[in-house]
Order: sequence, then C-alpha cells, then structure tokens
Amino acid sequence: MYKLGDSIVYTLYGESHAEYIGGYLEGIPKGMKIDIEQINKDLALRKPSAGIGTPRKEPDEVEFLSGLDNGKATGEKIHYRIKNTNTDSSKYDIFNRTPRPGHADLPALIKFPGHKIKGGNQFSGRLTVSVVVAGSIARQFIAQYGINVGAFTRSIGNVRDEEERTFEDTVRSKDNPTRAATKELDSLMNREVLEASAEEDSVGGVVECITTGLPIGFGGTWFGSLDAEIARAVFAIPACKGVEFGRGFELTKMKGSESNDPFYYENGVRLRTNNMGGILGGMSDGAPMVFRAAFKPTPSIGKEQDTIDLKTKSDAKVVVKGRHDPCIVPRAVVVVESVTCLVIADEIKKEKLAK
Ligand SMILES: Cc1cc2nc3c(=O)[nH]c(=O)nc-3n(C[C@H](O)[C@H](O)[C@H](O)COP(=O)(O)O)c2cc1C
Repeated sequence: MYKLGDSIVYTLYGESHAEYIGGYLEGIPKGMKIDIEQINKDLALRKPSAGIGTPRKEPDEVEFLSGLDNGKATGEKIHYRIKNTNTDSSKYDIFNRTPRPGHADLPALIKFPGHKIKGGNQFSGRLTVSVVVAGSIARQFIAQYGINVGAFTRSIGNVRDEEERTFEDTVRSKDNPTRAATKELDSLMNREVLEASAEEDSVGGVVECITTGLPIGFGGTWFGSLDAEIARAVFAIPACKGVEFGRGFELTKMKGSESNDPFYYENGVRLRTNNMGGILGGMSDGAPMVFRAAFKPTPSIGKEQDTIDLKTKSDAKVVVKGRHDPCIVPRAVVVVESVTCLVIADEIKKEKLAK
C-alpha cells in the first residue's frame, strides 16, 4: 500500500497481474456529489490510443465497495477496485533470470527475496488506473473551489510544441490521440511513435500541466511547498525522470531582470510573464501553475538488449516480447493531472483545517 496526502489521503494497492488494483480515498466530505461519468471519462483518457498504445485491452470498470451512497460521499473512507482481466504472466518468467534493462526487475529481484516478475508487478503503469479514479474524485472536489487542472503533450521524441499554451488548449488536446495541442502536432507526434514502434523501439516525451484558479498564497513552505509536494507525487509516476516549474532549467541562462515576473494591477494583482510557473516561495503567486514532467522511453522494447543472466552470473541478451506502449506520454497526461488534483485537494483541506 502506498500513501499520498495528509488530510485527503489516497492509498494505492495492487499489482499488474493481481486480481484487482484499487484504492482508498479518505477525507472527501460527506454529501459531496461524485460524478461517475466524469471518472469514466478520465479513465478513458488513460486507455491506450489505437495504433500507438499497448494492445492490452482492459475494460477498467470501477467497483465502489464503500464510501459512496446514491452518488454521494458518505464521509467514510471511499474504497474502490478495478478488475485485471488481461493477465498472462508466463511470458515474464524469462525476466527472473535476465532482467529487463530500464525496468524495475533487477532492483526488485535483489531487494525482495522470492519476488517473481509478473508484468510490471507493483511498478507497473497499470496501477495508474487507480490513481486516475482517486484523481478524478479529487478533480471534482477542487472544482468546487474554482480550481481546474489540465495537461497536454508538450513533446514526443524530437517533435516539440513551441507555442505558449493555455488551460483551454489542454482541454482541446483530449481530442487528439497523442494529446498534442493541435491536429498538426498530433500527426507529427503520432508518426514519431509509429516510427519507433516499427523499429521495435520506444520514445519518451514531455507532459505539461496547467492549473488555474489557485489563490495567491496557496501552498506551504519548505518541505510542504506546493511545488515540492507536486514534484514528489509526479516523480512517483512510473517512468517520470524530471519535473520543472515555469521555465525551469532554462532560467539558469537568464538574468534576474529577464526572469522575474513583474507585477501590475488590473482587477487585482497580475503578472506580466509567468517564468516561475506560478510559484513563489512554495506558494501560488496567482498566475496559472505550470510545470512539465519528462517521461523516458518505455523500457520494454522488442529490440535485443544487453543484460545479465542471474543464474549463470554471465552476460546475456534479452528481447521483450508482448504488449507494451511504444510511448507512455499520451497515457501519462491524465495521470499527471490526477496526482496534481490529489495534491491540491489535500492542500485545500489542510489550509481549511489550519484556519
Ligand atoms: C501509463 C503508463 C504506462 C506504462 N506502460 C509501460 C509498458 O507498456 N511497458 C513498460 O515496460 N513500461 C511501461 N511503463 C513504465 C514502467 O512502469 C516503468 O518504467 C518501470 O516501472 C520502472 O520505473 P521507472 O521508470 O520509474 O524507474 C508505463 C508507465 C505508465 C505511467
């Protein structure tokens, strides 16, 4: 079981080839209406897109076991689960001897005595199905406070979207299979995925997330900083290898006079630019919160790779057959949104309790 949050607490459980993947969500107020249709819409965004995702098909029907009555939260712990229907562990036996480079096999086999590779076990991207359910409930909770979270695909492989994007762009991106902001970028990114896939290879990319409606001062300080809390949750998503806020690493090449976002008044406090991604001192400065998350190329690839044979203690080769996403990025978009919603929901409740 893996936990996120202090006041709205999300607990994740399951493995990719276990009977169920599920979760608990504590702290959702009694009487809050929960729109199951919204949850199903979010889950649909996590499904692989035709042609550029894994052929593993899962119905992803959510069963609520407690905490919901007639579409409303009872105030008790919400418990839900999703059945895994498409599991064939036999193809993974080989990785107990010859671990997949780039996947969690090697450290897991060394760390956990008796560990047996079945899919991606507890490290699998499949567990994000539970994250999306909890995130969707959190999304509905934070919407009551006028806060909206949207993400889109900023880049895949060498195809990068160079335009400034808004929350509305993130909404439009959901019509495109790669979750790119425009149809043109979608077809270029699509091609990048198909080319890698044709070579039995994979590609990575960048998800950008935009949150609107955060009031000035929202967030914490030091280890409770909003950016620190979000980065922690986003880094937990399998295959995430980097998180940057605003202009991030690019800020290092700017002068202070260029990077600082100047303030002005127009129906309240405004900022002329948003180089900081909406965060100052771990709190919202009132501008949209913007961050990017880097996702590595999918580790499981059909190309032959060097590995080791743990039995003979010699060098070996491995080829990963089976059903894998040649690019994780399009499916990661809604997962990034989900953890962001969970962190913000938790922060709302913490701030309310602190008052
Ligand atoms: C939505 C999603 C889908 C994923 N699909 C796959 C996949 O099909 N094959 C694979 O090898 N890894 C996949 N991954 C990534 C692995 O789970 C991840 O790389 C692995 O657990 C090692 O963790 P790390 O990359 O964070 O170090 C996926 C990740 C996500 C978020």
